[in-house]
Amino acid sequence: MATLCKYPFLLSLCFTFIMFSSASTQEADALLNFKAFIDDPNHSLSSWSNNSGVHHCNWTGITCIPTPSLYVSSIDLQSLNLSGEIPSSICDLPYLSHLNLADNLFNQPIPLHLSECSSLETLNLSKNLIWGTIPDQISQFDALKVLDLSKNHIEGKIPESIGSLVHLQVLNLGSNLLSGTVPFVFGNFAELVVLDLSQNAYLASAVPTDIGKLEKLEQLFLQRSGFLGEIPESFVGLSNLITLDLSQNNLTGKLPQTLGSSLKNLVSFDVSENKLLGSFPSGICDGKGLKFLSLHTNFFNGSIPESISKCLNLEIFQVQNNGFSGDFPNGLWSIPKVMLVRAENNRFSGELLDSISKAAQLEQVQIDNNSFTGKIPQGLGLVKSLYRFSASLNGFSGEIPPNFCDSPVMSIINLSHNTLSGQIPELRKCRKLVSLSLADNSLTGEIPPSLADLPVLTYLDLSHNQLSGSIAPGLQNLKLALFNVSFNQLSGRVPSSLISGLPASFLEGNPGLCGPGLPNPCSDEHPKHHSSGLTTLTCALISIAFAMAMVIVAAGVFVFHRFSKRKSQPGVWRSVFFYPLRLTEHDLVMGMDEKSALGNGGPFGRVYTISLPSGELVAIKKLVNFGTQPSKALKAQVKVLAKMRHKNIVKILGFCHSDESIFLIFEFLQKGSLGDLICRPDFELQWSARLRIATGVAQGLAYLHKGYVPHLLHRNLKSTNILLDADYEPKLTDFAIDRIVGEAPFLSTITSEFAHSCYNAPECRYSKKATEQMDVYSFGVVLLELITGRQAEDIESLDSLDIVKWVRRKVNITNGALQILDPKISSSSSQKEMLRALEIALHCTAVMPEKRPSMIEVVKTLESPNSGSCVPSTLGSEEQMQSVGV
Ligand SMILES: *[C@@H]1O[C@H](CO)[C@@H](O)[C@H](O)[C@H]1NC(C)=O
Ligand SMILES: *[C@@H]1O[C@H](CO)[C@@H](O)[C@H](O)[C@H]1NC(C)=O
Ligand SMILES: *[C@@H]1O[C@H](CO)[C@@H](O)[C@H](O)[C@H]1NC(C)=O
Ligand SMILES: *[C@@H]1O[C@H](CO)[C@@H](O)[C@H](O)[C@H]1NC(C)=O
Ligand SMILES: *[C@@H]1O[C@H](CO)[C@@H](O)[C@H](O)[C@H]1NC(C)=O
Ligand SMILES: *[C@@H]1O[C@H](CO)[C@@H](O)[C@H](O)[C@H]1NC(C)=O
Ligand SMILES: *[C@@H]1O[C@H](CO)[C@@H](O)[C@H](O)[C@H]1NC(C)=O
Ligand SMILES: *[C@@H]1O[C@H](CO)[C@@H](O)[C@H](O)[C@H]1NC(C)=O
Ligand SMILES: *[C@@H]1O[C@H](CO)[C@@H](O)[C@H](O)[C@H]1NC(C)=O
Repeated sequence: MATLCKYPFLLSLCFTFIMFSSASTQEADALLNFKAFIDDPNHSLSSWSNNSGVHHCNWTGITCIPTPSLYVSSIDLQSLNLSGEIPSSICDLPYLSHLNLADNLFNQPIPLHLSECSSLETLNLSKNLIWGTIPDQISQFDALKVLDLSKNHIEGKIPESIGSLVHLQVLNLGSNLLSGTVPFVFGNFAELVVLDLSQNAYLASAVPTDIGKLEKLEQLFLQRSGFLGEIPESFVGLSNLITLDLSQNNLTGKLPQTLGSSLKNLVSFDVSENKLLGSFPSGICDGKGLKFLSLHTNFFNGSIPESISKCLNLEIFQVQNNGFSGDFPNGLWSIPKVMLVRAENNRFSGELLDSISKAAQLEQVQIDNNSFTGKIPQGLGLVKSLYRFSASLNGFSGEIPPNFCDSPVMSIINLSHNTLSGQIPELRKCRKLVSLSLADNSLTGEIPPSLADLPVLTYLDLSHNQLSGSIAPGLQNLKLALFNVSFNQLSGRVPSSLISGLPASFLEGNPGLCGPGLPNPCSDEHPKHHSSGLTTLTCALISIAFAMAMVIVAAGVFVFHRFSKRKSQPGVWRSVFFYPLRLTEHDLVMGMDEKSALGNGGPFGRVYTISLPSGELVAIKKLVNFGTQPSKALKAQVKVLAKMRHKNIVKILGFCHSDESIFLIFEFLQKGSLGDLICRPDFELQWSARLRIATGVAQGLAYLHKGYVPHLLHRNLKSTNILLDADYEPKLTDFAIDRIVGEAPFLSTITSEFAHSCYNAPECRYSKKATEQMDVYSFGVVLLELITGRQAEDIESLDSLDIVKWVRRKVNITNGALQILDPKISSSSSQKEMLRALEIALHCTAVMPEKRPSMIEVVKTLESPNSGSCVPSTLGSEEQMQSVGV
């Protein structure tokens, strides 16, 4: 280049070249500088290098604009597992207008310094681990057109200063931890097309009326966010709205009167799961574009006009769980694309018309629990796409049309609790039928033998009819999970596998049936095992296997007994006792019945109380859903748990197991669980006793985490897993079940049954790795139960919040903390201690796991109520709450 510059006539060219090349180097340097701050475990940015020979405009994720020369205009690095600090040097790229770092692992507050990027228009940080509050300085981003901070851990209030971002076209703050009320500034966003504040469960706010001013708004997502009050009348001004989702809030009152007819462009309208009332929004079909309409689970009433048929594009229609009445709008069936119709739990009357056959795309119809009358229409059998039809609890009468199951995809039919009569038609075409319930009708004739040919039928309920004849032996071939023919007039021999595989109650009420274990033996045979079939518990089988009886074990010695099985029995039973226990298998098996079952049991099985001949009581937990650990490994694992001796941990006395089941034998504790105690209406423990319970639980947990080798996690701590002895000393149970059942079955059971349990720390949703901090969170929830005297989750009532949300909402109000304390504890000296405990509980339930104390710290703080606490004092101010991660 130096040579080149010697020639004056080339100077200007040369100058341009230097300019260009130095700008270009600067840009590459800025990118390399950015890379230096980023942790890139999968080497996604390997092309980002001086030496790669690739121009930086061709590096991964980079787009350049050609004017004035090549400048980086866009960086798109989503879903690359990147973490680290987003450096401000990125703003050395003067033409950078688009930065997308979505779906990575950036774990930091909102990077305000990016507001220095003078050309930045789009910032997408969705789906990272961004935390902290939205600071007032968010106003510095006033050049942005697109701001997506969704799916992070951003907390606190939305500041008013956000109203300065007047150029925004897209604002997405959905799926965060925002709280409090939403400021009245949204009217400023005159350019806004998409607004998403959904899934911020801690918001408690009216819907800002000024949203109605946003004439350009096309998408409005406010679902699952604690919005309350009425839907503002101003919403009729959202003339360009395409999607409106207000579902799962606490909205009340009526819909604005002309809402339906004003929103001409609406494609999706969802106000489900609120407390709205009034009539069906007439005019909602005026725009013709509506595809999705959901009003379910509100208090709407009145009738639904036939004009619903004007919604020519409607696919989904959900009005279930309301008070709608009047004739059902059969006009729905003439809508060409209608796919899903849910109208159950209303008071619709009238008939279902044959015109249903016109709905050629129909897949699902649920109209249970209404007041329909008339016949099941023939037209139903002509809809080839129908896979679910349930119309139970109505007044349908007459015969079931022979074609009712002709749809080749039909899977679920429920016509139970009607007044249908005549015979059950032969079912030959519905090869996909899984579930058929015709219970509680007046059906006569035989059970059609063709049922036996349906390959996937698993659930068959024909109970409470007047069916006669015998049970065809072919039905044995079905892999039935439920086969209920009780209370009919069936007769003859019951195929033997149906007797042994199913509860006797499914056959009862048919005096003519005979077979082993039934009240009538068949005349041509002698009952061999009169006990089999009497009880439905698998334990009945075990009792035979265990005929060897007594096992008496000496104290402190682990004795391992092997029981030979009888030839006909499924598995070998083995028992191991860790404690001097006079317990026979017979006692065990005979003791386990419905009467001795405690509660519903946990996800892994029920608990039974059994009284030993000595008068001692033991608790037996029957584990189900466990994996297939070899017996030796299983024994080793249970031994690990059973060897533990701590005053706050329930003793495991022994266990017995076969290939199918495991029974854990625990010491029995008289006072039941803390959870049972709290939900009693007369729960009135004084604070000192509650504090003792909390301290004991904390000590037990600290022992599991740090005191015992190997270190263990509880993984399922909740008040129903804390048992109390006669002196109210707490003892943890159901701990470390993952060790016994295996990680995979444990996780799948826990996630399927308790995905939304409020004892679960928020990170459980995305982090598969179990941590001590998750236990600490659960402990915090238990502590809140002790402080408030409320159950953590009251599943009975729909509108009640779980305890963590309830407390968080209260705590932000002035003097709210005082309202949290259980009013049954009156003494003011307790009050001070309770507030301190509340602070601990709030720390333990901090959203960010690293802000939670260890159990050892918790024990220390609880044990020394007057010494300086490890947590800051004085409750109430918002910063305080934020500092503990609320
Ligand atoms: C990406 O890196 C993470 C963390 O080092 C690692 O667990 C993962 O297996 C890597 N994935 C691929 C596809 O290389
Ligand atoms: C890339 O080149 C610049 C000079 O253009 C130099 O300062 C920097 O150290 C180089 N980086 C690497 C990784 O080689
Ligand atoms: C980027 O790569 C393409 C094709 O590989 C090439 O045509 C183009 O010139 C490259 N751009 C720069 C600035 O090197
Ligand atoms: C990110 O990491 C996950 C596992 O940790 C891996 O499955 C995925 O492939 C990684 N992504 C990339 C782009 O390497
Ligand atoms: C941000 O990135 C995510 C992840 O790719 C994407 O789903 C989302 O649509 C983007 N946001 C905007 C406003 O484009
Ligand atoms: C819903 O609102 C009612 C009264 O407006 C209130 O009592 C209730 O606590 C609220 N529930 C939720 C979940 O916000
Ligand atoms: C609907 O409910 C309201 C009370 O919310 C009642 O006043 C009205 O009469 C009901 N309408 C019908 C048609 O049942
Ligand atoms: C039937 O619907 C009514 C409301 O219309 C509801 O109260 C009742 O619980 C429902 N019954 C069943 C069995 O779901
Ligand atoms: C059929 O409907 C009845 C009444 O609504 C309900 O109790 C039963 O669980 C339903 N059966 C199936 C298999 O869905």
